[in-house]
Amino acid sequence: MSIINFSKVASVYEKTALVQKSASEVLLDLLSIKNGDDVLDVGCGPGNVSMEIAKMTKGRVVGIDVAPGMIEEACRRGTASGNITFAVRDAADFEFISEFDVIFSNSAFQWFRDPDVVIKRCFNALKLGGRMGIQAPATRNFCSNFVAAEEKIRSSPVTSGVFSDYRSPWLFLEKAEDYARLFERNGFRVSYSQIVQEETLYSVDKAFRIYQSGAENGYLNQDYYQVLLSSDYVEMFRELFRESLSEQAREDGMVPIVFNRIYLVAHK
Ligand SMILES: C[S@@+](CC[C@H](N)C(=O)[O-])C[C@H]1O[C@@H](n2cnc3c(N)ncnc32)[C@H](O)[C@@H]1O
Repeated sequence: MSIINFSKVASVYEKTALVQKSASEVLLDLLSIKNGDDVLDVGCGPGNVSMEIAKMTKGRVVGIDVAPGMIEEACRRGTASGNITFAVRDAADFEFISEFDVIFSNSAFQWFRDPDVVIKRCFNALKLGGRMGIQAPATRNFCSNFVAAEEKIRSSPVTSGVFSDYRSPWLFLEKAEDYARLFERNGFRVSYSQIVQEETLYSVDKAFRIYQSGAENGYLNQDYYQVLLSSDYVEMFRELFRESLSEQAREDGMVPIVFNRIYLVAHK
């Protein structure tokens, strides 16, 4: 079992994606979706937030995601609600023209290889006067706990060889203005752009599940290594990662998990 990706974790994603969920609520507040708004959810995963959005509007809600497993899971539980559809699409390769009042993208932007292309597609997909909001982990130190665990894996003799071949897939910019500039150079007017540091206490088990819901799909994904990953490597990586989280726990066993997150709202 050396291939890890979002399709594989689709059925358990919602239970483990605790930090993505709480961040999505902040983004929804910032976007204040109105009844009647047509909404596109880019990188919707299994559609858990898209379904919340479909309760806020009688307009059309469309969720797109590049991972077929995520869309299968979303369709399995979501399409009954009438105003919602899901489709497998790459955020860099979809074609909607002036169709949406709102574009929502939660915890997905860091995965976009060519953000300019994605932002242009989103600009075209919005109606005039429409708005787009993103939330994503930001800065090289996006989660200090995960970065510390990564350091342990980089220096351990059992994982250092293979891990030296790992190339991070993530886009992390250091400043809120850097994110704003990306949107502005693609035609948007940015009304809000802030990097916020959020700290929440979790047990080691929960912290590990949080890691598995998102970051593991980068760290242990064959696409980001040239050497072939073995199940031994995956097992050792997970063991060291969990060990590092345990070392970061306070006396009461809880780990303060710290994320830097960008919240941005932009207008067409
Ligand atoms: C951490 S999940 C977030 C899911 C959901 N938005 C949420 O808030 O729970 C990131 C999602 O982005 C999707 N993704 C990554 N790259 C993508 C791309 N280029 N186009 C569309 N979706 C993408 C992944 O497949 C995954 O489902």
